[in-house]
Amino acid sequence: MRVFVTGASGFIGSAVVAELVEAGHQVVGLARSDQAAEAVAAAGAEVQRGSLQDLDALRRGAAAADGVIHTAYIHDFSRMALAAQTDLRAIETLGDALEGSGRPLVVTTGTALVNPGNVATEDDVIDPATATHPRAATEPLVKALASRGVRSSIVRPGASVHGEGDHGFVPFLISLARTKGVSAYIGDGANRWPAVHRFDAAHLYRLALEDGAAGSVFHAIGDEGVPTRDIAEIIGRHLSLPVASILSEQVGEHFDWMAAFWALDAPASSTLTQARLGWAPTHVGLVADLEQGHYFHTAELAVS
Ligand SMILES: NC(=O)c1ccc[n+]([C@@H]2O[C@H](COP(=O)([O-])OP(=O)(O)OC[C@H]3O[C@@H](n4cnc5c(N)ncnc54)[C@H](OP(=O)(O)O)[C@@H]3O)[C@@H](O)[C@H]2O)c1
Repeated sequence: MRVFVTGASGFIGSAVVAELVEAGHQVVGLARSDQAAEAVAAAGAEVQRGSLQDLDALRRGAAAADGVIHTAYIHDFSRMALAAQTDLRAIETLGDALEGSGRPLVVTTGTALVNPGNVATEDDVIDPATATHPRAATEPLVKALASRGVRSSIVRPGASVHGEGDHGFVPFLISLARTKGVSAYIGDGANRWPAVHRFDAAHLYRLALEDGAAGSVFHAIGDEGVPTRDIAEIIGRHLSLPVASILSEQVGEHFDWMAAFWALDAPASSTLTQARLGWAPTHVGLVADLEQGHYFHTAELAVS
C-alpha cells in the first residue's frame, strides 16, 4: 500500500515508518522542517512537506494514498486546547479526503482518560460531554467517519510508549528528579501507568491499517499498569537519589504540568486488541527497559 504517515519524524511515527517499509509498503511521511524531512527520507520514505495546520497538504497526502496513519501531535502542554483543536481539524480533513473510498485511516488517541481507576478496555467509550480532556472529541469523530465510507480506526497507546529515543513523560520524570534531587511519586504511589514498547506499538499500527475493521478501537498496551512508585524507585536507584512521596498540596509545585498525568491511575488492557488483530507485544516491558540504563544517558532531552 501507499501509506501517508503524519508525525513520521516522531518517536512513534518513525517506528511506524520503519515497520511499514520493512513490511514492503510504500510510505509518504509528512514533514514540517528540513530536519524532519531528512529523517523521513533516511528512513526510506518519500517526503511530503507540510504541517498539521496546512490542510491542503493533509488533503493531498490522504487523497494520493491507499491509507493514512495519523501520529502527529502538538505536544505543548501550555496550549492543550489549541493542540486538540488542531488535531481535530487535521483528522476531519484526512477523513474528508478518504470519504467513500473504504480506505483505512488510523488515528492516535490514548488510554489515559478512558476509564480512570479501572482497567480500561477497547470497548470503553470516552464521553465528550463529561470528559475534561481536550482530546475527548477525537474518538467520536473517528468513529463517525466509519459510517462515511472510511475504514477508520483508533489506536490508544498507554501513557508511556517507551524505548530508545523516548523524549516523553518518563524522560521528563528523570530530568525532574535530577533537578529536584529526589525521585518522587504521589501519595502511596499505587496509581498505575500502562505502557508499551514503541516497536510493539508500531506493529499494532500496521495491523490496524491492514486489517482493522471500520470504527474499531485498539489498545497498544504491553504492561497493563506499572505502579508509579515502582517507576520512581527505579529512577532513584539509577540516579542514586532518594525516593519520596510528595504530599498532595505540593504536587503542583513539584511536578508542574506533569502533576495531572503522574497522578493518573489508568491501567488498561489489550486483550480485545490481541484477539481482534492477532497482535501480541514481544518487546521488553517498561521496568525492564528502564533497567537497561539507556534512559539515564538521554534524559536531558525530555519534553518541556
Ligand atoms: N509517546 C508516548 O508515550 C505517548 C503516549 C500516549 C499517546 N501518545 C500519542 O501518540 C502520538 C505520537 O506521539 P509521539 O510520542 O510519537 O510524539 P512526538 O515524538 O512528539 O512526535 C510528534 C510528531 O508530530 C509532529 N508534529 C508536531 N507538531 C506538528 C505540526 N504542527 N505539524 C506537523 N507535524 C507536527 C512532529 O514533527 P517534528 O519532528 O517536526 O517535531 C513529530 O513528527 C501522539 O498523538 C501522542 O499524543 C504518545
